[in-house]
Amino acid sequence: MSDRRSVELIEVGPRDGLQNESTPVSLADKLMLIERLIEAGCRRIEATSFVSPKAIPQLADADELLPALPDRPDIDFICLVPNERGYERAIAAGARHVEIFTAATEAFCQANIRCTIDESFDRFAPVMERSAADGVAVRGAVSVAFHCPYSGPVDPVAAVTVAKRLLEIGCAEVSIADTIGRASPDDVQRLLDVALPSLPIERLAMHFHDTTGLAIDNIRLSWDAGISRFDASVGGLGGCPFAPGAPGNVSSEQVAGMFSARGIETGIDLDKLTDTGSWIRAVLGKA
Ligand code: COA
Ligand code: ZN
Repeated sequence: MSDRRSVELIEVGPRDGLQNESTPVSLADKLMLIERLIEAGCRRIEATSFVSPKAIPQLADADELLPALPDRPDIDFICLVPNERGYERAIAAGARHVEIFTAATEAFCQANIRCTIDESFDRFAPVMERSAADGVAVRGAVSVAFHCPYSGPVDPVAAVTVAKRLLEIGCAEVSIADTIGRASPDDVQRLLDVALPSLPIERLAMHFHDTTGLAIDNIRLSWDAGISRFDASVGGLGGCPFAPGAPGNVSSEQVAGMFSARGIETGIDLDKLTDTGSWIRAVLGKA
């Protein structure tokens, strides 16, 4: 794995970064954020979510945002969809890549999407069928893969089983998320020990929040284990309203800086990304 020259970063700021912010961000500022991210070199961007506007008021403008994005076939804009209704909205708005999401624990699944894990897969079935017919790519995500705010530490086997199911139903890749940022490198190692022998490594991404300052160590460990794809959020924004205590995502600037210091290509212009992080934090009234 030591000859790998580049890392793939998925910028989740416009979605995970903003979804938990109570300060309303205007459509114009969201579009500006995405344009600046593209200008800084981001090529894969989680743009928004087609979820219930009651669940995530900040992203209620998804139907307006997506058609207003720059016409850039080279940029992979990803939109979260929780069910067929979300898929229909996303397609009507022009989505070419959607992301379905479930959880490693029943308690978090209920809190976040109000169904059991099995029921979440029932909801995904029509999304998978229609996306295959429409030629739309699907990414999957497993929330609380390490630690659940409701039921505590998560058995890696449970998390990996859900990731495997997402791959089996047709997700091209799966993001394994430390939604509340409690994973230590030992926890990550334990999960990878289960995941890597049974899942295709090139179809995995890791998604870390940074509660205890260990996210960057977790990324380094995952990279050294062979994972080449990481979610990160500009300005370290992020959190989930259904995950009490969820802090920001690991910051994209820090992740890109760490990889370039190791001589690994990120495609990112660090100065531009850092300016963008400062700008969006100022928009949100953050220090
Ligand atoms: N887009 C917009 N509205 C939707 C929707 C969608 N994709 N899916 C359902 N709704 C609406 C329904 O119309 C209904 O509206 P009403 O209360 O005005 O009648 C309401 O949401 C409840 O619908 P229901 O099908 O019973 O869903 P639910 O109560 O079981 O909630 C979800 C399920 C998935 C829609 C909701 O929990 C949700 O959007 N969660 C997203 C959470 C999230 O994004 N978390 C962060 C990402 S990890
Ligand atoms: Zn997250």
